[in-house]
Amino acid sequence: MPSTTLEPLPTPTASDLAEGTATLESIYGLSGVTKTYGSGATAVCALDSIDLTVSAGEFLAIVGASGSGKTTLLQLLGALDRPTTGRIELLGRDLTSLGERELTRLRRDTIGFVFQQFNLIPTLSAADNVEVAIATRHESSAQRAERVAELLGSVGLAHRAQHLPSQLSGGEQQRVAIARALANRPAVLLADEPTGNLDTASGSEILELLERLVAEGNQTIVLITHEPRIAEAAQRTISLKDGRILSDTQPGPG
Ligand SMILES: Nc1ncnc2c1ncn2[C@@H]1O[C@H](COP(=O)(O)OP(=O)(O)O)[C@@H](O)[C@H]1O
Ligand SMILES: [Mg+2]
Repeated sequence: MPSTTLEPLPTPTASDLAEGTATLESIYGLSGVTKTYGSGATAVCALDSIDLTVSAGEFLAIVGASGSGKTTLLQLLGALDRPTTGRIELLGRDLTSLGERELTRLRRDTIGFVFQQFNLIPTLSAADNVEVAIATRHESSAQRAERVAELLGSVGLAHRAQHLPSQLSGGEQQRVAIARALANRPAVLLADEPTGNLDTASGSEILELLERLVAEGNQTIVLITHEPRIAEAAQRTISLKDGRILSDTQPGPG
């Protein structure tokens, strides 16, 4: 595949990977990634020489004090911002070499985003909030409806499809947001404190859902959290301090 192509990538989906029809192992490869905001006397070095590899099917938690660079790192992983120096590969493509149009397409086709604020459209039903995210415009409306039903079913909300966000609990709203994030079968799900706005019980529901996506769908997840129980549930935790990786734990099974 020539690196100059503008055609969409034949991106392996999480289910391709689970079924073994794709052999891709590396989702992300970061080397020497630095991010500096501003310049001169007011420059802030938010990330300092980050090297990181994320493999398919990993559930990775990012922890660290406020201001340690967690959100900056997630934004770079999400191709929402560019590093000041260094290289970021997603599915073998160097993000720093791509233009805005290609980055937009890459985000839509390969990355799902979940935020602390659920960011649902308040005037749309749960089903419509999910449907607007489906990129394949040439599918029939019946096919789209089927996909929406499948997505809402996968987050346990089939019975809430016609509810507005205001008629749903926080945990349910976040589940709709997760269904939306999964609409295009992203290679990676990125989440910035997805349980930060939820009570403990709702947070547990979301955590169970994320764990199931990893266990059953081989979904790759990178999430930021302040909650030790969520970091513990992830297979791997990296801890940031002052823009550097302080520790990277990869506890084996048992
Ligand atoms: N847009 C920005 N402009 C200037 N400084 C920023 C910007 N975003 C983040 N920072 C600074 O970069 C550092 C890391 O921020 P951030 O990545 O948001 O950390 P965290 O998510 O761990 O709290 C902090 O010192 C923060 O003030
Ligand atoms: Mg943050």
